Amino acid sequence: MRVSSLSPLAAAMALFAVAVFTVAQAPPVQSPHGDPQPPRVFPAPTNLKVLPKTLTGQQVHDIMENWAGSLGVHCDTCHTSDPNNLGPNGRPRLKFDDDSKQEKLTARLMLKMTEDINNNYVSMIPKDKDHDHEMEAGEHHGLPVTCGTCHRGHQHPEEYVIPKEAPRRPEGTPPAMPPMGK
Ligand code: HEC
Ligand code: HEC
Repeated sequence: MRVSSLSPLAAAMALFAVAVFTVAQAPPVQSPHGDPQPPRVFPAPTNLKVLPKTLTGQQVHDIMENWAGSLGVHCDTCHTSDPNNLGPNGRPRLKFDDDSKQEKLTARLMLKMTEDINNNYVSMIPKDKDHDHEMEAGEHHGLPVTCGTCHRGHQHPEEYVIPKEAPRRPEGTPPAMPPMGK
């Protein structure tokens, strides 16, 4: 019935899909930092030892973007490049399944540690009396610990220096009191 009136729309959508596909398939642009960019296809992982092996390539990629951002690094901080496999930009592609970088092995330890902290410690903190809402089963008391909790955009977490202007005061002391113990 409305097939003829729908088909221009369908054609437009098909064109749009092709355009999106073409953009998605375009050769990766070199980043301003000069790091080799990963290929824009996300094959299923073959060498997961800590992350669930059922993750799709896209899911692994999303986690990796999160880690890189949390540490303020690029993919090649943890992944080796393969000089025999050049990408479209002429730069070596990264060998994501390769385990020869110490940073990758450390990241595996970090992931296990973070899961341990959340599963065996953060989840044990009793419910906050100020929080009236019912806790769902398995719900964490507060924020789970993530890579970013400690790393905060740094490959090596920065030392926390206690600010001099923020004295610890006894419970109930008005904030306006002069610093104690000075
Ligand atoms: C902080 C270190 C670190 C950074 C940064 C990092 N990765 Fe990873 N990556 C890992 C670790 C560790 C694994 C293996 C996880 C496991 O064993 O469960 C991994 C696994 C992978 C895999 C799966 C490989 C396979 O076949 O098993 C892909 C793909 C991948 N990373 C892509 C990326 C991309 C793309 C980036 C940049 C956006 C990136 N990684 C940044 C540490 C890192
Ligand atoms: C509880 C705090 C904490 C959490 C959570 C944490 N890290 Fe770390 N991470 C550290 C500390 C401390 C070091 C060692 C200090 C250093 O390397 O200067 C470190 C070191 C590393 C290193 C080695 C850096 C290097 O150049 O050798 C990598 C890689 C790393 N962490 C990745 C991760 C990832 C990925 C996560 C999340 C899955 C994570 N970390 C979660 C505290 C943490």
